[in-house]
Amino acid sequence: MIADQASKLRMMVQAASRARTIAVTSGKGGVGKSNIALNLSIAAAGLGHKVTLIDADLGLANIDVLADLKTRYNISHVIAGRKNIIEIVAEGPGGIRVIPGASGLPDLADMPEERRERLIAQLDYLESEADIVFVDTGAGINRNVIDFTVAADDVLVVSTPEPTSITDAYATIKVLSRGADYGNVWVLMNMVSGTGEARRIADQIARVSRDFLGMCVGCAGHVVRDDAVEAAVRSRRPFMLAYPGCQASRCLRKSLKILDIGRNAEKRRMGGGFFRRLFGRFGTGEK
Ligand SMILES: Nc1ncnc2c1ncn2[C@@H]1O[C@H](COP(=O)(O)OP(=O)(O)O)[C@@H](O)[C@H]1O
Ligand SMILES: [Mg+2]
Repeated sequence: MIADQASKLRMMVQAASRARTIAVTSGKGGVGKSNIALNLSIAAAGLGHKVTLIDADLGLANIDVLADLKTRYNISHVIAGRKNIIEIVAEGPGGIRVIPGASGLPDLADMPEERRERLIAQLDYLESEADIVFVDTGAGINRNVIDFTVAADDVLVVSTPEPTSITDAYATIKVLSRGADYGNVWVLMNMVSGTGEARRIADQIARVSRDFLGMCVGCAGHVVRDDAVEAAVRSRRPFMLAYPGCQASRCLRKSLKILDIGRNAEKRRMGGGFFRRLFGRFGTGEK
């Protein structure tokens, strides 16, 4: 009886101390994932949440460029066992913490068992320290991207109105639907002309996902095409800070409301935190 209560209590404590993880992904590159991940993180931090942003685009890591971080170390040093995670965390703009990424990393699945365990333990610690963890993933349907998205509580699939971007977004959702234990899936339309266009395309993606995949896909709002985004990229300052009143900033603050950003992480079937789920997938060979 007492043991039973203790285990219940442990579960409650674990649930309370676990961050909500939100992966930002897309089928096609260059659709605005990194800008959306960075600026959503800053907006969430502005509401008083403790936010960590992980640059997990293993092909084209560039949050450090967008946020003008001066860092010497990145996730590759942790994977190599040369640094602890806490030594590479960068203080980012707007009060967020950033785990800088590295391009051309080896496949996480190929990592020796002992090193992987060490990495999980360090990432677990990071997760326990945050309210929300945003993950900027790479584009496309490769293994690393899918593993990150399936393990997250929420997946934001970013698409632009271009037909190729829409079909690639749908292809990403289709791969997600094959996973046994994915979280909430959302479409976030970027570079749209306005609400009408965004809603029309998001509805279309949601309808096809429901009819052909039996999947419920939500609409996490949209970001209009806005010159302030490009100007901010050029000056290496996130638009949420450089131009807080611009249309893109206003759009993303609406998206945070739709995502109900203060909501806690959900208790997922496989249990454990985000990183345990992520690395757990390597053991099962699930694709
Ligand atoms: N809402 C927007 N309005 C105008 N330009 C945008 C918008 N979103 C993204 N961009 C442009 O697209 C480029 C690519 O964005 P980025 O976030 O790096 O994409 P990804 O991470 O998907 O490759 C940016 O440098 C910016 O110039
Ligand atoms: Mg990117």
